[in-house]
Amino acid sequence: MDIKERAGFTSKFGVIAAAAGSAVGLGNIWRFPYVAGENGGGAFLLIYLLFILAIGVPVMLSEFTIGRKAQRNTLGAFRKLAPRSGWSIIGVMGIIAAFVILAFYSTIAGWTLEYIVKAVSNSFQGKNTDILFENFKSQTFFPLLWQFIFMILTATIVFMGVQKGIERYTKILMPLLLLLIIAMCIRSLTLEGSMEGVKFLFNPDFSKITFNVILEALGQAAFSLSIGMGALITYGSYIQKDNHLPNTAIQVATADTVIAVLAGVMIFPAVFALGMDPQSGPGLVFEVLPKLFMQMPMGYLFSILFFVLLAVAALTSTVSLLEVVVAYFSEELNMSRTKATIISTSMIWFFGIFATLSFSSLKDFTLFDLTIFDSLDYVSANILLPLGALLIVIFLGWKFGKRQTYLETTNEQSIPFKLFRVFFFIVKFIAPIAIVFIFLNSLGLFRFLQS
Ligand code: TRP
Repeated sequence: MDIKERAGFTSKFGVIAAAAGSAVGLGNIWRFPYVAGENGGGAFLLIYLLFILAIGVPVMLSEFTIGRKAQRNTLGAFRKLAPRSGWSIIGVMGIIAAFVILAFYSTIAGWTLEYIVKAVSNSFQGKNTDILFENFKSQTFFPLLWQFIFMILTATIVFMGVQKGIERYTKILMPLLLLLIIAMCIRSLTLEGSMEGVKFLFNPDFSKITFNVILEALGQAAFSLSIGMGALITYGSYIQKDNHLPNTAIQVATADTVIAVLAGVMIFPAVFALGMDPQSGPGLVFEVLPKLFMQMPMGYLFSILFFVLLAVAALTSTVSLLEVVVAYFSEELNMSRTKATIISTSMIWFFGIFATLSFSSLKDFTLFDLTIFDSLDYVSANILLPLGALLIVIFLGWKFGKRQTYLETTNEQSIPFKLFRVFFFIVKFIAPIAIVFIFLNSLGLFRFLQS
């Protein structure tokens, strides 16, 4: 495809909006609290923040660099920058990861739609919200229907084109989501007994740190920033040549991290104040938040607004995932965008059925003691994404090289990038070594060092 034909983001803010839209999603508000809750809270948060800064931001910048330089989809990018070599395996893995993540992500995204309806019909009032949630997720028909509707919404936006579809909405809706979360944090913090939750989130208990916790923190950092599978390579290919990539990466990561930490401040004080279990897993936010709304002035209005905005945040994330597959199908396999969208959406929807049914009819069918849903969730965040991130930094550091990276990140030396040396050192040495070390340890290979 001719480069001039590629539609790009029209404004600087459009890029940030789309990349932040990809990053901010269920990963921040649904996944972060539940994974932090299962992994000990404060200590997890500390390691998570360290990974965002030391590994996440450099990987994000690496992806933008590769994408903008190549002007291609994930797989096409490696084919172009390293022709006839094995590097395109990164692209293949990315496309597989997009399938896996979308399959289970759309389950939870579907739940947000059900919760919009519940909020509008005032269904939380006077109900036991745990039972309400249990009853819903164990059904077959409605969870599948909502997942299907969510996939259709995603496909519609991808079909309209990422630029037009996203730029316009995220500008207004993301800041609104932030305000709403802040209001909910205030309510959560003023509940009686909320201090226990604050302690849980901010007091690091280092005895809780194991290599599995470290791997979970790395996986969550990657998942939340949307790195490790080429979503940001694909978006990077739409970024204008005069964009300051390092600044964009920092802004996107900051927005994402602020929202994740605030989501923690919204959830954990309420969890403890309302006597709930921080380790209750993927259902955590859906059980806690309705209780919080019932204790808020104008809770009815808040609950509707919140679930609508959560659905929108999820949508801007699913769009970035589907775009990876559609850009690949249309550019590499020469399909029309329409055909590419229809085919990829149908395939992902089919896989997604198994994720959704993990909560009902397939509940007892497990792999490695995890349901299908949990396996997809675990494998994508903790294995596929860190592995993808590892290969991406190795590619940039050792194959693409210092000179080209410097030229691309400084827009051919027209803008300064003061921390370039630090960035490149991390990309070339620190990040790869850290990721390999974490992997080997969590596989138990260095167990003798731990005792
Ligand atoms: N980051 C998104 C979230 O936090 C999910 C997501 C979108 C994602 N695109 C991605 C995760 C690409 C990994 C890779 O909800």
